[in-house]
Amino acid sequence: MQLEHNKPLASYNTFGFNSKAESFVEARSISQAQEAIEYCKKNGMSLTVLGDGSNVVLADDLPGLTLKMATTNFSFDRTADENNNCSVVAEAGVNWHQFVLSTIGQQAFGLENLSLIPGTVGAAPIQNIGAYGVEVSSILTFVECIDCETNQLQVFDCDSCEFAYRDSIFKRSSPVQLATPGQTTQFELPQFLITRVGFKLQGNFEPQLSYSALANEITSRNIDNPDAKTVSDIVCGIRRSKLPDPEKLGNAGSFFKNPIISKKLEQNIKQLWPDAPCYPQTDGSAKIAAGWLVEMAGWKGKKVAGGTLGVHDKQALVLVNHGGGNGQELINLASDIRESVLEMFGIELEQEPRTLPASANATLDQAT
Ligand code: FAD
Ligand code: EPU
Repeated sequence: MQLEHNKPLASYNTFGFNSKAESFVEARSISQAQEAIEYCKKNGMSLTVLGDGSNVVLADDLPGLTLKMATTNFSFDRTADENNNCSVVAEAGVNWHQFVLSTIGQQAFGLENLSLIPGTVGAAPIQNIGAYGVEVSSILTFVECIDCETNQLQVFDCDSCEFAYRDSIFKRSSPVQLATPGQTTQFELPQFLITRVGFKLQGNFEPQLSYSALANEITSRNIDNPDAKTVSDIVCGIRRSKLPDPEKLGNAGSFFKNPIISKKLEQNIKQLWPDAPCYPQTDGSAKIAAGWLVEMAGWKGKKVAGGTLGVHDKQALVLVNHGGGNGQELINLASDIRESVLEMFGIELEQEPRTLPASANATLDQAT
């Protein structure tokens, strides 16, 4: 294991925040990840797992060992039947967008609408990544993890992952609290470290055009039978027109989930704002666009913390680091936004990215 100490993490998170990892290691194989877990247990060190850092807020330095998943293999296995379907297995550290492009190149279809989502394959099941009418759970067959308590591999089939909108058993799992024998200080490990993900992809391309922005774009270009590459390119184009490129402006995509509200609240909101973007759910409730709530509460384009942080001027759901901001101030901004949305609409916004270290969450919770 090649350990580094006091490692700056600015280039390991898409907000570009300047936290440091007390110790840092890249795992290039599953056995290296297991070795790192063993090392933490032996030395009483907490473990934090990072993919590409595109869905985290680093609110402080990370204590213990930070492990970046850097495993990069994937393989295709075609069925011999006439459908020519394909099983694909990818390791956790594979870059998601490169993976999507490779599947299209291999004529294995189903991931096109998820093009250009930053991050790694290993993080994709954690919040069940979704975009443009498709969630990864609809194409996923299994998730292989290390159970950090036993350091053994465990496989979850799709049903056991308990996927929901931006949620899964992995996102909800509580860290494992441990103490070295004879010591009172505790350290913690995540319960699961995802190592590989399996997907079932189609040999025949069927475009998924349920998301109106995508369907409208295809219609407006007079495309009758889009192929997979065309759908992927159009998704990339729409995304680039709305979402800031983290290379140029630090962000973690949507900062809040789109809340689910009751039919009654939807009706009340629609009476005052007939154009409020609400999407009916099968159980009678409605999903309301959090970006609209944040914009209506007056936050779009606002800057705080001496102009270092703010709300994106094209998409109010995206909080941005204009340069020089830090994670704690960003959490304060998020808290102010949540308060004003709650006051105006009676709706609680739920943060999408994970705040790290977990202890920063506890401190911030006490402060609010
Ligand atoms: P990280 O940010 O590194 O980690 C996220 C969480 O997962 C952390 O808690 C981390 O500890 C944990 N983790 C990471 N890897 C592992 C592993 N192998 N095992 C166990 N735990 C792990 N998301 C969407 O769903 N849809 C979108 O359309 C979308 N658009 C985005 C656009 C932009 C510009 C950005 C910056 C982000 C966007 N996101 C979107 C969020 C983000 O891309 C996804 O959540 C992505 O899956 C995060 O991957 P990551 O490797 O960067 O994870
Ligand atoms: N809107 C506003 N003002 C804004 C932003 C949005 O009024 O500043 C309203 C508009 O009415 C717009 C609607 O919100 O039509 C929806 O906006 P958009 O299509 O941009 O999608 P979103 O709901 O903001 C969600 C996901 C994105 C995903 C897109 C496309 C969540 C939390 N976010 O965004 O995922 O890419 O749909 O499917 O579900 C992410 O999770 O990080 C992410 C970027």
